[in-house]
Amino acid sequence: MLIHSASQLVTISGGPQRGVDLGRLGIIPNGAMRVQDGIIADIGITDDLLEKYPDEPHVDASGRVVMPGLVDPHTHVIWAGDRAAEFELRLEGKTYLEILASGGGILSTVQATRLASREELAVQTLARLNRMLALGTTTIEAKTGYGLSQDSELKMIKVLVELARKGPWDLAITYLPAHAIPPEYKDDADGYCKELAEAWLPEMKSWWQANAADLPLPFVDVFCETGAFTLEQTDLILRAAIAEGFPVKIHSDEFDNLGGTTLAVRLGAASADHLVAASYRDIEALGESNTVAVALPGTPFGLGTSDYAPGRAILAAGGILALASDLNPGTSWCESMQMAIALGCRQMKLTPSQAIAAATINAAAAIGKDGEVGSLEIGKQADFLILDVADYRHLGYRYGGNLVAEVYKRGIQVYSASGGSL
Ligand code: NIG
Ligand code: FE
Repeated sequence: MLIHSASQLVTISGGPQRGVDLGRLGIIPNGAMRVQDGIIADIGITDDLLEKYPDEPHVDASGRVVMPGLVDPHTHVIWAGDRAAEFELRLEGKTYLEILASGGGILSTVQATRLASREELAVQTLARLNRMLALGTTTIEAKTGYGLSQDSELKMIKVLVELARKGPWDLAITYLPAHAIPPEYKDDADGYCKELAEAWLPEMKSWWQANAADLPLPFVDVFCETGAFTLEQTDLILRAAIAEGFPVKIHSDEFDNLGGTTLAVRLGAASADHLVAASYRDIEALGESNTVAVALPGTPFGLGTSDYAPGRAILAAGGILALASDLNPGTSWCESMQMAIALGCRQMKLTPSQAIAAATINAAAAIGKDGEVGSLEIGKQADFLILDVADYRHLGYRYGGNLVAEVYKRGIQVYSASGGSL
């Protein structure tokens, strides 16, 4: 198949983009791309490729941008229930951490998720994944973390493994039993951490090897925050995870600075996520490491607060900055990476080209998939979008709708807004 005549073929070639290098989109005007067996086989100028491959079935992208599928590297896409009542409480003045401390927040979603069957969870999660696909997100990280008992965390893992195999999206699965202290361990958080480190992690490793060896080992993540896990507890759990061979991530500096970001760098974590309260030293540490700095601008927006991750400082320090939706029922029920891009531009002062690279190649790096997805280069998966606009800057500039006209995953069309988008 030959996709040709794109007003802009946005390749984002050359690997993850560090610091002020962010935003090299590698645009080919009047670009074309040949796809074979789901892989990008050639790329170049339309006239050249049409001449080289005259008999290939054609897709005419005249007047439209062709770009890599968006990658969402931080989501809590699987859950049951909703928190609409809490949204109202917050608007009346209660804070997120106050609601969590009084047994609501994450714990109220835990209650609903524990009660849900695997089938119910699969149906609800599938609907969200399909909406994300229609919004142009073709690779998605997905965390557990609303089970918090060994059985219900395993139930979430099983649904995610099933959905990862089903596709068409690629899922990067993350095991997050350290999302909150479960009610059973309310007065013994250290006991819970010990149990996770000594029993749950090794058992998850054995389960994975026996039942999901066709998929990469999941990431292990910890919510390092006041009211969730302390720095010492985070360190204990993640060291145990690393000893088992799991790659790791940290939720750090969402509200309070506990030192989680510098710990993430020290442990060689794939990413440190949130970073709203990151200190100058944390930012410096990120700048010198390969730990990807994942900003989630939908979260302060969803909470109605005014502090956002210091994106420009992270770039000035040389960090690898990515964007994600943080899709979850508490702080950010947002399925759209287009919205994350629009918020990144306004609240983190990224340019559209920086925000797009942060939402593709750097986002892929945050989940260890930058060798397969996140850019349009020969040999990579043919995951791409055809936008209903001629200039990539409309992503970011326009918000609240869907600029995606067509979505292709491994060369196969998986979504079409027949007749155009918006
Ligand atoms: O990334 N901070 C922890 N986890 C989510 C929120 C989860 C929830 O409130 O249900 C986040 O914002
Ligand atoms: Fe999160």
